[in-house]
Amino acid sequence: MKKDLLYEGKGKKIFATDREDFLIAQFKDDLTAFDAAKKGFEKGKGALNCQISAQLFELLEKNGVPTHYVKKLSENEMLIKRAEMIPIEVVVRNIATGSLTKRLGIPDGTVLPFTLVEFYYKNDDLHDPIINDEHAMILELAQNEAELEELKRLGREVNAILKPFFDGRDLILVDFKLEFGKDRTGKIILADEISPDSCRFWDKNTGEKLDKDRFRQDLGNVKVAYEEVLKRVLQ
Ligand code: TMP
Ligand code: ASP
Repeated sequence: MKKDLLYEGKGKKIFATDREDFLIAQFKDDLTAFDAAKKGFEKGKGALNCQISAQLFELLEKNGVPTHYVKKLSENEMLIKRAEMIPIEVVVRNIATGSLTKRLGIPDGTVLPFTLVEFYYKNDDLHDPIINDEHAMILELAQNEAELEELKRLGREVNAILKPFFDGRDLILVDFKLEFGKDRTGKIILADEISPDSCRFWDKNTGEKLDKDRFRQDLGNVKVAYEEVLKRVLQ
């Protein structure tokens, strides 16, 4: 049973349930970019992200990655396990684009020689700055270095599962952002969402962008692109 609204983020609302250990994530139709300096709305986007995330969480669970996902409740709602969120955005990159090309001058589209894992401090006031392990320890974002290593290992593990999955569906998984939390027992589990809002997908044959870059860069057809990603995930 859905109870009080506990938290509202840019992409989701989180509600309490009548069971302490379970919450409901409701996916919103709002689109934001550049720290919400750019705002938009796409009716049905929340439902698409909810379905895509549900499928991918199920795939990851099947392959041994612990997630907060329990089950889908409706078009745009899923039941999730309560977790204490770790305020680190774990970004995993296969191909250079976005902030990586801007920051380091690596040409857009360069295939990286190995999977790059980066940490960003999830803090809107500071605009989610990139941090290293020592910054994370000083900020007490993790309890010890082993936890940071676990975030990196899980990021690489998710990539090892999702990259071939999307490749088989003619989508290049360029990069993505993950968020993790700790469950009641202290175990680190994958949380948040995995959707075209948090990943970059390029069509393997045409190079077409099928993710939130369509909104960020005003390319149009945002919803059509998300629908295409769902279609391929379900194929
Ligand atoms: P970036 O190139 O802008 O750093 O983005 C890297 C990946 O992380 C990309 O797949 C988009 C995703 N991302 C988010 O999900 N949320 C964010 O706030 C940002 C900046 C990026
Ligand atoms: N999600 C961030 C925002 O809403 C940035 C982004 O994904 O581009 O501002």
